Amino acid sequence: MSIAVNIRNERPEDYEAIREVHRRAFPTGLEARLVDRLREDGAVLVSLAAFQEARLVGHILFSRLRIETESGAMPAAALAPVAVIPEEQRRGIGSALVRKGLESCRERGESIVVVLGDPDYYRRFGFSTEPARGLESPYPAEYLMALELQPGALAGVRGYARYARAFR
Ligand SMILES: CC(C)(COP(=O)(O)OP(=O)(O)OC[C@H]1O[C@@H](n2cnc3c(N)ncnc32)[C@H](O)[C@@H]1OP(=O)(O)O)[C@@H](O)C(=O)NCCC(=O)NCCS
Repeated sequence: MSIAVNIRNERPEDYEAIREVHRRAFPTGLEARLVDRLREDGAVLVSLAAFQEARLVGHILFSRLRIETESGAMPAAALAPVAVIPEEQRRGIGSALVRKGLESCRERGESIVVVLGDPDYYRRFGFSTEPARGLESPYPAEYLMALELQPGALAGVRGYARYARAFR
């Protein structure tokens, strides 16, 4: 079932509700702290909040990631984290956040988005392990996916996907 949801850029008055979304959606407070640290470090590219009427029910964040290659660093966006409060999951809010987030990345001129997660979930948005196969990262290769917002942006690219400091 799909329901009316409004999505907009986060504002400082949303921060506490965003923390709460992550605390409730994930088993530990790690993601809530990650979001705060990414903001503190100025690493946030896109951060969107989803509302049902006045209630903040979901959040997605994209941060700066650098692909370190032999010929220099290439900028990319890393999608993480995304969460929806448990009682509103499976109603399309997560998908709406991902789609709107990708649109914002495209509007900002980003050409590559990387995500680490369940391929069954992210495939529907166009992510695939294939364009990410030249990328090394601290994470298992079968979960590292990429989406080229600019076709061919990752063609032949080999390098290390360095996530923002807050992830370490
Ligand atoms: C993952 C999450 C953000 C998805 O949000 P959502 O609003 O529930 O997602 P949607 O309703 O748009 O789901 C779309 C589809 O994804 C599926 N799906 C949801 N979570 C999934 C998961 N973890 N793995 C695989 N598929 C998943 C749903 O079954 C649905 O499929 P369907 O349309 O075929 O039924 C949400 O479930 C969540 O907050 N989970 C806990 C936090 C988390 O794991 N975040 C992702 C890692 S950063």
